[in-house]
Amino acid sequence: VDKQQQPPPPKQKQRNLLDNASNLLTNFLSGGNLGAMPVAEGAVTDLFGKPLFFSLYDWFLEHGSVYKLAFGPKSFVVVSDPIVARHILRENAFCYDKGVLAEILKPIMGKGLIPADLDTWKQRRKVITPGFHALFIEAMVRTFTKCSERTISKLEELTESEARVQKSTIVDLEAEFSNLALDIIGLGVFNFDFDSVTKESPVIKAVYGTLFEAEHRSTFYIPYWNLPFTKWIVPRQRKFHSDLKVINNCLDNLIKNAKETRQEADVEKLQQRDYSSLKDASLLRFLVDMRGADVDDRQLRDDLMTMLIAGHETTAAVLTWSVFLLAQSPTKMRKAQAEVDSVLSNGAITVESLKKLEYIKLIILEALRLYPQPPLLIRRSLRPDKLPGGYNGAKEGYEIPAGTDIFVSIYNLHRSPYFWDRPNEFEPERFSVPKKDESIEGWSGFDPDRSPGAMYPNEIIADFAFLPFGGGPRKCVGDQFALLESTVALALLLRKFDVELRGSPDEVEMVTGATIHTKNGLWCRLRKRT
Ligand code: HEM
Repeated sequence: VDKQQQPPPPKQKQRNLLDNASNLLTNFLSGGNLGAMPVAEGAVTDLFGKPLFFSLYDWFLEHGSVYKLAFGPKSFVVVSDPIVARHILRENAFCYDKGVLAEILKPIMGKGLIPADLDTWKQRRKVITPGFHALFIEAMVRTFTKCSERTISKLEELTESEARVQKSTIVDLEAEFSNLALDIIGLGVFNFDFDSVTKESPVIKAVYGTLFEAEHRSTFYIPYWNLPFTKWIVPRQRKFHSDLKVINNCLDNLIKNAKETRQEADVEKLQQRDYSSLKDASLLRFLVDMRGADVDDRQLRDDLMTMLIAGHETTAAVLTWSVFLLAQSPTKMRKAQAEVDSVLSNGAITVESLKKLEYIKLIILEALRLYPQPPLLIRRSLRPDKLPGGYNGAKEGYEIPAGTDIFVSIYNLHRSPYFWDRPNEFEPERFSVPKKDESIEGWSGFDPDRSPGAMYPNEIIADFAFLPFGGGPRKCVGDQFALLESTVALALLLRKFDVELRGSPDEVEMVTGATIHTKNGLWCRLRKRT
């Protein structure tokens, strides 16, 4: 981090009548309750036609790392500061819940971990976390390998069909990763093989329909679906409810089967089971078999649905953007392939061999830095709170009243010119050099001593300037699962193929809902390596 580095000057905005009207509204609505906090003079036009987090970034450079944004009848505090983020996510985490996000997700995830009220969350988190134990993760590595090989075989067949002289093909890798991640999460969470890489089925269609609706709801500012009768009148809401029914029926059956074959045991015993010979290694099996963790079917279904959604698109997105970045950097792609060739040249893929894929892991983390999934964390204060002073433009702490809606912008933190050299460049190597106490006051760079044994640079090492999986008690439960899954999938792809973008990188536009994805797919030419 360069102490002297200043952020680029804010862009001059073209104002028009609509913008001015919205500014008046903004200032009127934002009066008073957040004291001296800077107010983003955003325009309505900033909110449409491009992802919201782009505008939040421009306003961060203009107004500093804690500012207030008001649009329509709503106002939000936008946080892009590591100290303030650490306070909200970790130090005073239980002063906040998921606010708007919970309102959007409750109809889909019920009382699953993401939208759950704090009491339910405490109970369920205590039971679900032990499910991600070492032997489960090891068993999952076998599942990641099997599913990734299925995808690779399909892609190989495509390159070899049609008598291709050059052994190449053009595919939408985003769609392939989405299918792969769905197959993996289905097997890992409830031992259900969607086999979406090779098949279509009503359940798969229903899952995609539901994900699509979750996206729609997270970008639509007016929750019209809460109005009475919309579920019968509005066609997309009708479809959503029928999709939800298909998935719920499928999950209910899986839960019923798991309960009928229950083999109750203490947690420690379950964590030592011989996973290499278990037919069903899923989390559902673990949750049902755990002694003393009896819970009604509805709660179990909410847990499964939450993990299905939380673990699917996020992983598909990190794979998509990793490939997007690598395909523009042939030297880095060759370096990655050389590592894969040497580490995976013989023997089965194991947790131990994956640890040696250092560069692949850094590529994934750098992709998560540039394209965080999700780009914003959402919170609402349950009680009044005093935010601590932070860095740029947020040196004084602000009082916030109960009910304040907050966006912690991971996108801004990850691309902050205050904390990252060349913040917009793809440089996986940046993580391999730990930095110590060489930057602005209070910021100690990546210090592995803070998190001994950490398998990857994380929020503790980076002191909350890097939040690939969030931080504090609501941190992702599936972080190791997701990292190993992405490592296996990326390594196996690069072992077999050279990847090029079909068009220019600018054509791969970003759109966002809960995660960042491409506008029209990630179309790539895959050429079989010789
Ligand atoms: C929470 C990211 C994969 C399950 C989170 C959060 C982040 C995140 C940033 C924190 C949200 C917040 O604080 O508001 C990711 C990324 C993934 C990934 C980037 C893939 C690369 C997974 C997987 C699973 C999972 C594979 C399940 C198998 C969850 C759950 C929560 C969560 C249940 C809620 C935790 C709680 O509130 O206690 N994830 N996730 N995630 N994630 Fe992940």
